Amino acid sequence: MKQQLFASVDKYISDLLAEEDDALKAVDQSIYDQGIPQISVSPNQGKFLQIMATLCGARNMLEIGTLAGYSTIWMARALPEGGRMVTLEYDALHARVARENIERAGLAEKVEVRLGKAIDILPQLEQEGAGPFDMIFIDADKPPYPEYYEWALKLSRPGTLIIADNVIREGQVLDPNSPDEKVQGVQRLNEILSRDSRVSATILQTVGIKEYDGMAIAVVK
Ligand code: SAH
Ligand code: DHB
Ligand code: MG
Repeated sequence: MKQQLFASVDKYISDLLAEEDDALKAVDQSIYDQGIPQISVSPNQGKFLQIMATLCGARNMLEIGTLAGYSTIWMARALPEGGRMVTLEYDALHARVARENIERAGLAEKVEVRLGKAIDILPQLEQEGAGPFDMIFIDADKPPYPEYYEWALKLSRPGTLIIADNVIREGQVLDPNSPDEKVQGVQRLNEILSRDSRVSATILQTVGIKEYDGMAIAVVK
């Protein structure tokens, strides 16, 4: 109903405060050229993630679900000298395109794209002692969100910020009988957050150029 207004205001904000430079524009172009799904975060959401990363003084970040590296680049730009980010992607095309985009953005030294299923790589990260991460962005397949969240906690320290994208799904989370496995995955995560004494959490509704959705934001106690 208000979608057009939300989209126009989103553009107004991003024109002012989240302008894409050549490297980010090149990510958009690569997604188009390679026929990759257009499900990156929006420019304003990218800027939001970047500000969150700056706010937690992130030196070590984890992303679950890279796609073409759009959110990766926004977040990694908040890293200080010597900072590091690992991002997980199981689609070989997405990972290859993401590596090219990250390289073009001058972030290849800081960002590692790991190819494989997140559920296989997360235990490897633990074994390697790759954590604790200062900020973790969960944005891969939705049904295993509760499992990804558990791994995020294992790879955390008090103060770690965990953000999960797409937890409102145009309000479908309100339907307790939704047959959609994506909806069920995020419903389970939201419910876990509501009774998990290990974190303090909220959900931010997101409107704008993307579908109406939301990001869960949890800080580890
Ligand atoms: N964070 C990105 C968007 C990620 S889209 C951005 O905003 O720019 C979700 C990505 O997760 C897709 O590239 C998809 O291939 C990947 N993915 C889906 N299931 C996965 C899994 N089990 N393990 C790792 N990556 C997965
Ligand atoms: C989908 C996934 C996302 O991460 C997103 O931001 C939007 C849509 C999807 O799988 O449909
Ligand atoms: Mg998403």
